[in-house]
Amino acid sequence: MHLLRLLLTALSLLQITSAATFTNPLRARDGSDPHIVHHDGFYYLMTTTWTDLRLTRAKTLEGLKTGETKVVWTDTNAARCCNVWAPELHRVDGVWYIYYTAGNRQNLDGQRSHVVRGGAHPWDGQYSYAGQVTLDWGIDGTVLTIGGKNYFIWSCLPRPQWQSLCIAAMTSPTKIQAGWKLLSEPELAWERVGSPVNEGATALYNGTRVWVGYSGSYCWTDSYQLGLLRYKGTGDPTEKGNWEKGREPVFSSSEGNWGTGHNAFFTSPDGRETWNVYHATTVRTGNCDGNRYTAAKRVEWRADGTPDLGRAERTGTRLLGPSGE
Ligand SMILES: *[C@@H]1O[C@H](CO)[C@@H](O)[C@H](O)[C@H]1NC(C)=O
Repeated sequence: MHLLRLLLTALSLLQITSAATFTNPLRARDGSDPHIVHHDGFYYLMTTTWTDLRLTRAKTLEGLKTGETKVVWTDTNAARCCNVWAPELHRVDGVWYIYYTAGNRQNLDGQRSHVVRGGAHPWDGQYSYAGQVTLDWGIDGTVLTIGGKNYFIWSCLPRPQWQSLCIAAMTSPTKIQAGWKLLSEPELAWERVGSPVNEGATALYNGTRVWVGYSGSYCWTDSYQLGLLRYKGTGDPTEKGNWEKGREPVFSSSEGNWGTGHNAFFTSPDGRETWNVYHATTVRTGNCDGNRYTAAKRVEWRADGTPDLGRAERTGTRLLGPSGE
């Protein structure tokens, strides 16, 4: 009996010491608007650089700190050269695309969602310009897939100073259907601190259940935080009525991690866990610039099947890595 217990203790100790761990931040500077995809043994991390699209890859989260980095796209076209934000790597219909925001050098009025097309592998293919996705001002574009159909969600300006989420069905991986519909508006108090903002949408899937996470309030405040929309499970996803908007934020500032937002969800290497990658800043009044760092945290699930994002861990805390690393 004693021997068995000893053996079990030894085994669990072994497991603990062999499991991969990591500490936040994964990227200390220029870690804004992070997006992670795990594919074929590697994590691919992208964040806002303001100048180009670059992929960093590594086999562990900790490894992303020093992972290989490759610039995959820069543009000299004056209308989309600059203010390059919020890049996201997505595989759509078997091909890898990077959706991103870019505009001119002078101001932010020209910000549009664009896309470059890669190949069958995120790292090996060349990326080439594939088009402007949003006609009007539009940032933080992302792809949502429901029932085998693709939808584009982005942050739009249906009227001045009213940054909302717009949605349209995609007619191809690089084009959206004409016209758009409003998916969410900054109507709740927690979405309106500093300025009314909904942005940074990102899909969260679990089995047949679908949510969209997004960021509310202005980034130069500590009220920049995450909310969730829940797809009701049936009906046209471009109809607002087929979504339920949570009344409260789901991931907010905590001591030392201010303005926790603009996240993405990714799956652990073994597909068993969902993770939240987000940015935050050590500056209490918030940051919209390169002072934001990238951090990750596992998503927990409540008994009723809803996601629990918890609170950002203090940076420097050693955390267990995603399962399957
Ligand atoms: C999906 O949700 C269930 C709870 O309903 C949870 O146990 C499971 O871990 C989740 N799957 C992933 C990949 O997060």
